[in-house]
Formats: sequence, structure tokens, C-alpha cells
Amino acid sequence: MNLLITGGAGFIGSNLIHHIIDQPVIQRLVNLDCLTYAGHPENLAAVARHPKYVFEPVDLRDKEATVRVLRDHHITHVMHLAAESHVDRSITGPGDFITTNIVGTFNLLEACRSAWLNLQSAISNLQSFRFHHVSTDEVYGSLGPTGLFTETTPYAPNSPYSASKASSDMLVRAYHHTYGLPAVITNCSNNYGPYQFPEKLIPVVILSCLNRKPIPVYGDGMNVRDWLFVRDHAEALWQVLTRGRDGETYNIGGHNEWANLRIVELICDLVDEFKPTLGGNTRRLITFVKDRPGHDRRYAIDASKIQRELGWTPAHTFETGIRETVKWYLDSADWVRAVSTKA
Ligand SMILES: NC(=O)c1ccc[n+]([C@@H]2O[C@H](COP(=O)([O-])OP(=O)(O)OC[C@H]3O[C@@H](n4cnc5c(N)ncnc54)[C@H](O)[C@@H]3O)[C@@H](O)[C@H]2O)c1
Repeated sequence: MNLLITGGAGFIGSNLIHHIIDQPVIQRLVNLDCLTYAGHPENLAAVARHPKYVFEPVDLRDKEATVRVLRDHHITHVMHLAAESHVDRSITGPGDFITTNIVGTFNLLEACRSAWLNLQSAISNLQSFRFHHVSTDEVYGSLGPTGLFTETTPYAPNSPYSASKASSDMLVRAYHHTYGLPAVITNCSNNYGPYQFPEKLIPVVILSCLNRKPIPVYGDGMNVRDWLFVRDHAEALWQVLTRGRDGETYNIGGHNEWANLRIVELICDLVDEFKPTLGGNTRRLITFVKDRPGHDRRYAIDASKIQRELGWTPAHTFETGIRETVKWYLDSADWVRAVSTKA
């Protein structure tokens, strides 16, 4: 397996690389990433000199450069994570979401189509190539107080971010059906864990607690998300890449629904426990702010298909995962400083 990971310098991509690089089946692991504000070589310091690891500083919007990477490294498998990923940024500036998430995915699919055809003529093995598209549960829109997203829930994206991801999912589906490109898609719920850039809820809250700043909570704080520890997501992705059925979609979730406000309170209490010298009573920093426009109320995943077919379930409970995450941010002041300065 010569594996290409796009977006490997981001949050999930870097955790994924750490998680799988020592798998014996991988001969070479190429990370294609143009290092936007969200991509940080610091996330990959531990693997930078690994004999299998190659970094390609390429922008997916550059089609020729993308084709070149697949050709030069004889890529056989692709895990596509590169994207603009922050909903709030998609509301204030949707343009990059269209060019990277939609046009960038199209460029990559075209590069894959020609790599796959070359591979077929070289070794006449149709199944030797695989494209794994990493997507989000946000494509399904918003749930009421009950119900779960399944793989057959109709798409109803509500933000420019989720609309751009839904578009990219449709392109992958079309390349599979039209050209037969071997492909799988995963739609995952909200991730948390080490190396998440401090613009998303959990790191924003942890760092606000540490810096004794107001902790912003949108609206009434009762929006519900299904949280998954990032290394559990990485393991699910590996299982789908290597064992998932061709042309299938798998939902990945943590069976772990939390209202935003409850998570914020939990993190405040953990910071009080780990850092009593900060004075305690961190919950008093919670500050309700104007809600995000079009804020989806509830997401929740039915992950029974991946459990049934591939035997995957999350290994971490939210209690263990969030403790590890809070500790990691407390111990990683240099990382926080480096990525914040760059952004
Ligand atoms: N974070 C979540 O909770 C979550 C949940 C479900 C799905 N996803 C999906 O998983 C993927 C990874 O998410 P993340 O949170 O790690 O994102 P991230 O924002 O942390 O990282 C994105 C990475 O992509 C790179 N990138 C962006 N535009 C690029 C371009 N044009 N060319 C090359 N590289 C580019 C960035 O430099 C960065 O390293 C995304 O596709 C996202 O939609 C994320």
C-alpha cells in the first residue's frame, strides 16, 4: 500500500497518521497538505523522520501538482481529509469552502481516476486501488429531539460548510457509479482530542478556562452534538479503508450525545481539578453569546452498520477521552503558542 493522506497536517489527519504509520501493510505514507491556517507541521514532529513518511506541500486546487503527487509515489490508496472545516468561517467567507472542498475534491478524483487506470494496465488488479472520502454527519442537516442519522437519511445541508461537504460526497458517489472508481465514504460526528486547532468548541473552552477569559457559549447552550474521541475515529477510518465494502457509506459516531453547555461545565470542573492554583469556580466565566446563524439543533449518529459489518465501536468513553484531552492542552503550551501565532 502506497497511501496518500490529504490534510494530514490538520487535526484528524495528524492523529490518523500517528495511529496507522506503523501498520506493516503501508510501504509509503504521503501527506499532501498546503498548510493553511489549520495545518501545522508541529502536529507531525514525531513522524517527520519516519522512513515511510513523505510530506508534499501541495494545494489540491492545483490539479497538475495533485496528479504529479499520485504519479510520483505510485499511490494505491487515498484517504481524503483536506478541507476547510470550520462552520463559522464558512458563514463569514464561503469562497475557500467551494474551491477547496468541491473543486479540490474534483481535482483529486480526476488524479485518482488516472492513477487507477494506470494501475489497472500495470498489474491488472481492479481492487488494488481505493479512494476513501472522509466526510461529516452535518450533510444530513438537523435533528429534532429524537431520531438518529443513518446511511440512508436524505442529505439536507444547512451551512456553506456542510453544503460543500455534501457536494464532495456526491462527486465521489458519481465517480464510483460512472467510472467504477473503487470508493468508500464515511460520515462522522464531532471529533475532539489532541491537536485540534483552538477555534473549535472544546479547545476554545479549555484555553479560555486556563487564560481566565469569558467562555463563549452560543444561544442557550442546548445544541446537541455526538462526540467522538479522535483516535477512535482514526481506528474506524483504518477499518473502513482496509475492510469496508466497495461503494458503501459508513456512519461513524460515539453514541455520546452532549448539550454544549454540559460539556463546557464538565471542562470547567476538570480545569478546577487539574489546576486548583487558578482559583476554582471556573464555571463563572461562562458567557452566553448571540447564536450562530442557522445553528443546527441536534446531530446524532446511528453507527450500527460499521459495528455490525466491521466490528468497530469506540474504545474511549467520553469521561476518559475528555480527561486526556484537557490534560493534553494543559501540558502543550508550546504547541498552543506555535499554532496560535501562525494563525
Ligand atoms: N473535526 C471534526 O469534528 C470532523 C468531523 C467529521 C468530519 N470531519 C472532516 O474530516 C476532515 C478533517 O477535519 P479536521 O478537523 O482535521 O480539519 P482541519 O481544519 O484541522 O485540517 C484540514 C487540513 O487540510 C489542509 N488543507 C485545507 N485546504 C487544503 C487545500 N486546498 N489543499 C491541501 N490541503 C488543504 C489544511 O492545511 C489542514 O491541514 C475534513 O474533511 C472534515 O470535513 C471533521
